[in-house]
Amino acid sequence: MSCQTCHRPGLYGTDALPKSIGAEHRLNARNAPTVLNAALQFKALWIGNRADVEDQAMKSLTGQTSFGNPETAAVIRKLKALGYEAEFKQAFPNDPEPVKPENWGKAIGAYERTLVTPSPFDAYLKGDAKALTPQARNGLKTFIDLGCVSCHNGVAVGGSAFRKFGMFGDYWTETGSPSIDEGRFKETQNPADKYLFKVPGLRNVAMTPPYFHDGSVATLPQAVRVMGKVQLGKELTDQDVSDLVAFLNSLTGELPQEFATEPVLAPRTFSATPP
Ligand code: HEC
Ligand code: HEC
Repeated sequence: MSCQTCHRPGLYGTDALPKSIGAEHRLNARNAPTVLNAALQFKALWIGNRADVEDQAMKSLTGQTSFGNPETAAVIRKLKALGYEAEFKQAFPNDPEPVKPENWGKAIGAYERTLVTPSPFDAYLKGDAKALTPQARNGLKTFIDLGCVSCHNGVAVGGSAFRKFGMFGDYWTETGSPSIDEGRFKETQNPADKYLFKVPGLRNVAMTPPYFHDGSVATLPQAVRVMGKVQLGKELTDQDVSDLVAFLNSLTGELPQEFATEPVLAPRTFSATPP
């Protein structure tokens, strides 16, 4: 299993599933967000239980749902068997034991930090007014006037705070979520953290359905309606929704060259467990 099993280039760094399927077909508890621009956010994962992309990569090695490696030693054996040792030595020349989870985290994180996707909206911010269609410009105004921007702001257009999903009523009544996820509360056990999730960055959001932490909403217009209802207490008009979607489309950037093709993996001719 590699990172791009669930973060696929052809799907803008996602797997297009409501919830990911990991090692031994185990169902992940949440939807896979894109790895594109992920490093721009203040924390990693839906409930922010990883400090940054380096921490995420390192801990994913022994995370049970995605890779299913029993413990660190098994991971190190696997990395060596896959032939990565020479590259670790080259990247960490002063480290006597270069193949270790911390260095894996640093290396993957360094790569992820290159996965940024400048978009028409960035060209607009740099002064090219024509980079946005008139409808996208209306959508930007709506995004600001309605208050979407109070949560989705900064360089990632989100990814800078935790907020309750369901400011105006239970989110699951609008999303139809089959089960209720208590969000950050699961990590902290603090009642004030119930239903808190990281406000996701919205770059490339038009390319990454289905939506929300549980992939419960299939289309972007519907996700925008749900946001209006449960985050702002407003019934959005059809015009608002299509303008907002036009603006969100302008956040779609080009895939970085070094992410545009899927890698060919070594065949599984080795055993990760010692004989
Ligand atoms: C089995 C599918 C799967 C695999 C394999 C996988 N991921 Fe993920 N990834 C997910 C899911 C699901 C989440 C969200 C989990 C959550 O928030 O609870 C996620 C979240 C992330 C995030 C956080 C994004 C954000 O916006 O917070 C990053 C970064 C990431 N993965 C990178 C990686 C890297 C690097 C690898 C390889 C080492 C990897 N993933 C392998 C499914 C996968
Ligand atoms: C009070 C804060 C807040 C406001 C206001 C808000 N959002 Fe959100 N938004 C969130 C949070 C939190 C989530 C993550 C919900 C979840 O899945 O747990 C989210 C998720 C989304 C998603 C889904 C992203 C994905 O990758 O699944 C979209 C699209 C979105 N918001 C657009 C908007 C739009 C458009 C507006 C204005 C109409 C808006 N938001 C207003 C906090 C907010």
